[in-house]
Amino acid sequence: MTEQSLGEGVPGHRARAGWSREQAGAIERTDDTVAPIVYPPEDDQIPEVHIWDTWFLRNRDGTLAEVDGYRVCFSLTAPSDLLPGKRHDVATIRCFYSDDGKNWHNAGPVFEDALGQRQWAGSALYDDDGSVYLFYTAAGEDGAEDLTYGQRIVGAGGGRLHTDDGFELSGPWTHHELLRPDGERYEREEQSRAMIYTFRDPWFFEDPETGETWLLFEANSPVPEGSDACGGDAELQGFNGSVGIARSPSGDPLEWELEDPLLDAVGVNQELERPHIVYRDGLYYLFLSSHLHTFAPGLDGFDALYGFVAEELRGDYVPLNDSGLVVTNPENAPFQSYSWMAFPHDDEVLVQSFFNYYEFAGETLDEIAHLPESEQMRRFGGTLGPTVRLDVEGTRTRIIGALGHWHIPMAGEALPPTDRELIRRGRA
Ligand code: FRU
Repeated sequence: MTEQSLGEGVPGHRARAGWSREQAGAIERTDDTVAPIVYPPEDDQIPEVHIWDTWFLRNRDGTLAEVDGYRVCFSLTAPSDLLPGKRHDVATIRCFYSDDGKNWHNAGPVFEDALGQRQWAGSALYDDDGSVYLFYTAAGEDGAEDLTYGQRIVGAGGGRLHTDDGFELSGPWTHHELLRPDGERYEREEQSRAMIYTFRDPWFFEDPETGETWLLFEANSPVPEGSDACGGDAELQGFNGSVGIARSPSGDPLEWELEDPLLDAVGVNQELERPHIVYRDGLYYLFLSSHLHTFAPGLDGFDALYGFVAEELRGDYVPLNDSGLVVTNPENAPFQSYSWMAFPHDDEVLVQSFFNYYEFAGETLDEIAHLPESEQMRRFGGTLGPTVRLDVEGTRTRIIGALGHWHIPMAGEALPPTDRELIRRGRA
């Protein structure tokens, strides 16, 4: 693997690896990275709410949990009659379950007493003793009259699944504030020079090589005014996304200590969202989502899943496919999906995301907000999108097909042959 060097001179606690402007400058759509067009599902499985960021209940070893025959997932949700742009202000975590990986049912809101004015993305752990932990972002200060944008990472313990008589996830939950930005490794709100700072999207990971327990999250690296990062260019310095990490020395899911970021993107991109790892063939694949509008001036990225690979968890990550681009939307539907999450299935990597704005080929997401309200409603998917199938080999990835909306295969489920396989068989 080649050595990576980070934007020069970032003071404080630097990540070992970085996403450089040169690498990100090579982002372009290719046959291997553009997902098929998404059409609205024939029936919306959960019509009563809009769904966006989604994560699956996973075991400590990172595999998707299957509890007494049920797959379980959690999503940020909002009432489906709310204008989509307003959903982040009222986000509530709901639980869904399925006994076939295709048909999903609403188990309702998970918490009555969550921290924060609203809850943003996270992850969920099914621990070895059968208890369920939810990690989430508490957005906004409790008790504040107006909507505020502070973000804290919270862990909720005490969850239990009951499957004797149908499916139920119950508490009583206890909510623990786990992490706030320290201002040194991770930027605080008052240090930020951007529209919105980030300290969110906790994701649990147990390193299969060392057995150590980690929590990844989305953050920003502090770049003080007058710093010589990005050649002293103050505008570029405002784009300072990072992938943060904390360690639990005892393995306790509710005890974490901040460590230096895994990777950052100073001068490249401001939001490295929902970072997560897939461990495969002895390599650590680090994936994250980012937006077209959060790239620094001079770079043309897309709403897309980006990825990096290293030989160790704290290694020198190199971007997949040279630029980091792994899955993006077609040029004529640039916002059809967002918030991708990769997970292993047999010898493939599958990627789920939510169905975002369709029949919209505008230049920016902001333009959506200027459409008539009925059009904003009509063009919002607000449900889980088709699952994308990826072939991953070393530093290269390739989209090889897609499954239906909401299709998250059960453990051991054989996937249908891909189009390429059928063509190959036809020729044989
Ligand atoms: C990605 C995201 C997450 C955040 C959530 C808020 O879609 O920005 O980073 O947790 O949306 O709704």
